[in-house]
Amino acid sequence: MAYRSICNCNNYCVALVVLFMGVLLSNAAAASNSFNVMKFGAKPDGKTDSTQAFVKTWASACSSASGQPNADAVMYIPNGRFLIKAVVFRGPCKTRRVTVRIDGTLVAPQTIGLWATQATGFYSLRSPELQCLVVPSMPKVLHFGLAGDLGRLALLELGSSITFNWANNIVISGLTSINSQQTHLVINSCNNVVVRNVKLIAPSESPNTDGIHVQSSAGVTITGSILQTGDDCISIGPGTTNLHISNIKCGPGHGVSIGSLGKELKEDGVQNVTLTNAVFSGSDNGVRIKSWARPSTGFVRNILFQNIIMRNVENPIIIDQNYCPNNRACPNQSSGVKISQVTYRNIQGASATAEAVTFDCSPSHPCTGIRLQNIKLTYMNRDATSSCKNIDGTSSGLLVPQSCL
Ligand SMILES: *[C@@H]1O[C@H](CO)[C@@H](O)[C@H](O)[C@H]1NC(C)=O
Ligand SMILES: *[C@@H]1O[C@H](CO)[C@@H](O)[C@H](O)[C@H]1NC(C)=O
Repeated sequence: MAYRSICNCNNYCVALVVLFMGVLLSNAAAASNSFNVMKFGAKPDGKTDSTQAFVKTWASACSSASGQPNADAVMYIPNGRFLIKAVVFRGPCKTRRVTVRIDGTLVAPQTIGLWATQATGFYSLRSPELQCLVVPSMPKVLHFGLAGDLGRLALLELGSSITFNWANNIVISGLTSINSQQTHLVINSCNNVVVRNVKLIAPSESPNTDGIHVQSSAGVTITGSILQTGDDCISIGPGTTNLHISNIKCGPGHGVSIGSLGKELKEDGVQNVTLTNAVFSGSDNGVRIKSWARPSTGFVRNILFQNIIMRNVENPIIIDQNYCPNNRACPNQSSGVKISQVTYRNIQGASATAEAVTFDCSPSHPCTGIRLQNIKLTYMNRDATSSCKNIDGTSSGLLVPQSCL
């Protein structure tokens, strides 16, 4: 069951389209109560502020156990364009599962000031029962912070279209988000999340418009998605474990990045991340691990990048432990982030620069257990080159460029 609509908005509009898996919807045995935003006063004209109507609809859906254990609810957004300001949909819910089904389009205000200081996102304060099937998108958010731990959210200060904080068991399916102000989709402090069949689009020159940012989260799957952005297609922050990404198309954008890490002295590590079956086109990077050059307790461990095609990618494979964009306020120390057990397997295609493989690891904490298997990267139809600093590992199979390990 799929519902789709596409929004062609001007800059800074956020469009959302969602869909939902019809499991419960089509299952007659499962009672699901439907809550239509129109019944709560939302107007599909793209001009009237429907924020409060959405808040009321969510509140009803979230508390609608209606006497049945295991009842489900649908928050339904029909066709039309709904103007929504930044808003928080908060749990925990009495309802076992809330599905937010969007047939229409959510439109952000066109003026940044309208939403800049408000909050947006889905919050579930660690309710193991809540299953939120979602999808709205919202506009730029400067602060969440209406609940929870402000300190940890500081990194996420600048607005994203949709944020999930402290929520578990989430499925985000069939969403299209266009021209987010910052990251399109943030998954922060969540467990058990599936993102599939999403399309996140922003102009290649738009700053900080990452596609998906994951951090402090465990058990996240991202699959079948198209990411065309001005920043990382997917960025993976501290405290991410068991993240599996497959069948994505990235570019334009800055590629898939673990990091940047080492912002803080005390920082959680990243472990068990896999990326398989991906195509990068015209992106600044392919698969990147980056950390600032300063002391840190962070680490990156047990990572697999495999079955990847690079098309005109500037840095197809890169570890950069001297990360310092624009060379401003560089710490100029040695990164404490320990990178180990990273495998690159079956990666081929064309680099847009001569050096297709760059390993610039920390002098004080060298990279270890790095494996290269079957790599074929060319530059202008010739063999590309590679460079290695402070790294230990092994290589096997066909290797172009020649391994510098
Ligand atoms: C990482 O994966 C390994 C298996 O490959 C597993 O034993 C370990 O528990 C995982 N780590 C975390 C933090 O889940
Ligand atoms: C760090 O190094 C860069 C380039 O080597 C230099 O331009 C910059 O001034 C240095 N920054 C500090 C804080 O030392």
